[in-house]
Amino acid sequence: MLRVETLDVAYGDTQVLWDVSLEVGDGEVVALLGSNGAGKSTLLGTISGLLAPRRGRIIYDGDDISGMSPEKLVRRGISHVPQGRRLFAGLTVEQNLRLGAYLRDDGLAIAEDLDRVVTLFPVLRERFRQYAGSLSGGEQQMCAIGRALMARPRLLLIDELSLGLAPAVVDSLWPALREVNQSGTSILLVEQDVQLALENSSRGYVLETGRLVLAGPSTDLLNDARIVSAYLGV
Ligand SMILES: Nc1ncnc2c1ncn2[C@@H]1O[C@H](COP(=O)(O)OP(=O)(O)OP(=O)(O)O)[C@@H](O)[C@H]1O
Ligand SMILES: [Mg+2]
Repeated sequence: MLRVETLDVAYGDTQVLWDVSLEVGDGEVVALLGSNGAGKSTLLGTISGLLAPRRGRIIYDGDDISGMSPEKLVRRGISHVPQGRRLFAGLTVEQNLRLGAYLRDDGLAIAEDLDRVVTLFPVLRERFRQYAGSLSGGEQQMCAIGRALMARPRLLLIDELSLGLAPAVVDSLWPALREVNQSGTSILLVEQDVQLALENSSRGYVLETGRLVLAGPSTDLLNDARIVSAYLGV
């Protein structure tokens, strides 16, 4: 479904990704790991069209989408849950969710999808008319995921699912994500909690200072000595 080929990405003169290649298959959950500043968010931003690559290609559904606008990519089924959620604090939960469907004009289906999101995250139904800024961290993450789902994505990019959330809250997000995945949406997940990410994905990649240093099935990575010593603190 997605194939990133030999990507170089820079902010002005400062290059932060070198020769990055990665794949996400149809229906897969893939984990993208790496320490602070490794370039994970930069890679997601390049896939979702917020940044243009300096070199390399991004193939999605067989087409080269490198440099395509975020708007076009959302229409083609790529949705991004950004690091830090980036909700509109002064808008309600409903308004934030509806913004995820901004490019759609199929009103009936939008209403169905709103219903699907609040069924997936029942607390959002209770908070429907509250300002997003008044939500707890976990509720904000649910709202950010819900907003991305309102675009009916086939590929969901999630940046730092668990950051700042209590473990119990994170656990409550996973059943919903599994359901989203099982209904046909592939997921590329950036996650600080390496164990959690590898336990919930089929394959993983590790970025270090802008380069991929490891890739493989998640079960292999969970047992890889380099992962264990660098990330699992053994
Ligand atoms: N807008 C920007 N302008 C210049 N440099 C940037 C910009 N955004 C990020 N960088 C730099 O690019 C590198 C990669 O940053 P990025 O945010 O992609 O890493 P990350 O893996 O997501 O890190 P984190 O775990 O902290 O979220 C870092 O050195 C960062 O300082
Ligand atoms: Mg980041």
